[in-house]
Amino acid sequence: MKCEMMRLILLAFVAVSQAANILIMSGIPSASHFIWLRPLMYELGKRGHNVTVISADVEKKPPANVSYIHMENLYSATYNTSFREKVDFFNMAKEGPIPLLRLMHGLGLHMCEAAIKSEGLHFLLNYPKDFKFDLFVNDFMVGPCLPAIIMHRFKDVPYIPATSYNAPSTGAPVLGSFAYSGLVPNHVYDVPEEMNFVQRVKNLYYDVFEMITHETNMHPEADRILRILYPSAPSTYTFYKNVRVSFINANPIIQYKEPMMPNMIPVGGLQIQPPHQLPEDLRK
Ligand SMILES: *[C@@H]1O[C@H](CO)[C@@H](O)[C@H](O)[C@H]1NC(C)=O
Ligand SMILES: *[C@@H]1O[C@H](CO)[C@@H](O)[C@H](O)[C@H]1NC(C)=O
Ligand SMILES: *[C@@H]1O[C@H](CO)[C@@H](O)[C@H](O)[C@H]1NC(C)=O
Repeated sequence: MKCEMMRLILLAFVAVSQAANILIMSGIPSASHFIWLRPLMYELGKRGHNVTVISADVEKKPPANVSYIHMENLYSATYNTSFREKVDFFNMAKEGPIPLLRLMHGLGLHMCEAAIKSEGLHFLLNYPKDFKFDLFVNDFMVGPCLPAIIMHRFKDVPYIPATSYNAPSTGAPVLGSFAYSGLVPNHVYDVPEEMNFVQRVKNLYYDVFEMITHETNMHPEADRILRILYPSAPSTYTFYKNVRVSFINANPIIQYKEPMMPNMIPVGGLQIQPPHQLPEDLRK
């Protein structure tokens, strides 16, 4: 009996020590990206994990077990500089696929250039040398540069790329999967899923363009920025090995069907909260 008690007590300690230090990064200055990740942050806190959120958006009163680190200059670097003209959402709708792909590559690099000048990022990088995060979750639409800085600093941290963007094909570089050019329109190419022959050929061109610019432009530029902070850092490519699973805001009921790697988990609608009651005056 005594032995059983001891076991129970020991088990209780084991359960407590399962609380993990989790780092979540929301590096895209856009509320719609942030609010999608927010329920995940807060639920992990509720379950007893110690959640650190480094983000362009922060909330004044975070719930228990969640603390924010503000990358304070990402909004102004995007919307208060000449970069603003590029993120004119009305114009974006009229742009062709190539300028849109260029914009997406450029945005991540621009954010990374800004972040390395932010007090928030340096506050995190200056954590004690032996501080350990057990898990890193990041909105991977920000590109490879910012997460590589984190994963170089906090070595060997397991990585979950997650995004509110709804195109599983954007996970191809992080998961090492394929682009199905004959089957799935590129995420910026607005054509029906049953593309005709010419559209399929164009689609192949956009997919290849995206892959080649990753190799020849995005990664070399990301490496350059990473090495401003850490001159001996390996290429930003090498951090994909930290990926365990990936979460994506996709739901096959409301969008094109895309083949997914088994470690890509669709969590479409993650941001949806239980509805509140209508206010008293409206209910009457
Ligand atoms: C915060 O985490 C602790 C364990 O680390 C847990 O007991 C507590 O319930 C959590 N707080 C909230 C408000 O969920
Ligand atoms: C919990 O996270 C906060 C914010 O990152 C950190 O300051 C604190 O040291 C962490 N607690 C533990 C026990 O690691
Ligand atoms: C935007 O830039 C102007 C001048 O360049 C500056 O005065 C202003 O404070 C900036 N606003 C923000 C939100 O950074």
